[in-house]
Amino acid sequence: MNPGENQSEAELLALLRWQIEAGADEAIGEAAADHFVAAAISSPLQATPKRSFSFAQASVKGRVREGISPGDTDNQIAQIAPQNVTTPLGPPPHPSPFLGDGETPASAREIAAACHDLASLRQALERFQGCGLKATAKHTVFADGNPKAKVMLVGEAPGREEDIQGLPFVGRSGQLLDRMLAAIGLDRTQVYISNILPWRPPGNRTPTSGEIAVCLPFIERHIVLAQPDILVLLGGISAKALLDTNEGIVRLRGRWKIYRSGERQIPALPSFHPAYLLRQPAQKRQTWQDMLALRVRIDSLNVKLIG
Ligand code: URA
Repeated sequence: MNPGENQSEAELLALLRWQIEAGADEAIGEAAADHFVAAAISSPLQATPKRSFSFAQASVKGRVREGISPGDTDNQIAQIAPQNVTTPLGPPPHPSPFLGDGETPASAREIAAACHDLASLRQALERFQGCGLKATAKHTVFADGNPKAKVMLVGEAPGREEDIQGLPFVGRSGQLLDRMLAAIGLDRTQVYISNILPWRPPGNRTPTSGEIAVCLPFIERHIVLAQPDILVLLGGISAKALLDTNEGIVRLRGRWKIYRSGERQIPALPSFHPAYLLRQPAQKRQTWQDMLALRVRIDSLNVKLIG
């Protein structure tokens, strides 16, 4: 859907408001200037520096992911197009304090690996007893949007509204996310949405590294099964966990990375979490740049929105 098509006046006004808040308050010429090209020429691919530790090491340590500047040349873009590689997954994860007797992240990994479609993964999560968050949550929040979509967004964890409805990003931050997507001509029928954790941490507290480690095999398997061509990692928890890095979201956002999913390499764009943008509206300007970079990447890779 193009912005403006099939949208009501109120929706168009909300879109315009978001764009103005994000700093897009000037219309300049009819032909778009690609400001990323110059930057791309002077910023070749760089390997992500090695770290000695990350909280996500439990499941993904050993995998190499590379950083890519927002405006790559065609060759660089080709290199980050989803492709098959032969590198195996890293070693099994470390134990976590949140596991029951006999349950380890390795068992979470085994359970997840045994799921060969999204329905069985959802069912496995609904039966899984290895994460204490489940005891206080009302629902297992699995996903929303189109499971065949080629753009997949991964947030942190359900909040209150998501826990009540059993769907990700349906509260205030979800409404902002919808406006961000609409600003680049996307809606939930064209993207797939999930979270690192399928259960709400009580009081929306930050999830512990143990909780993340336990749930990570499931979202990793989720990505394998959904087979997106582009990932958008919303917020620091999502970006750090999936990119296996200790770098903060302020440094990570807007820089394309490679996420290795089974035998595929998927371009992944970290961006600020919409909940953070609600608290810090001034950061919407940067997020607007990220959304534009996402649109450019979709268009330049000729990514089909629905597989
Ligand atoms: N925040 C998230 O990270 N995910 C949701 O589903 C809702 C809020």
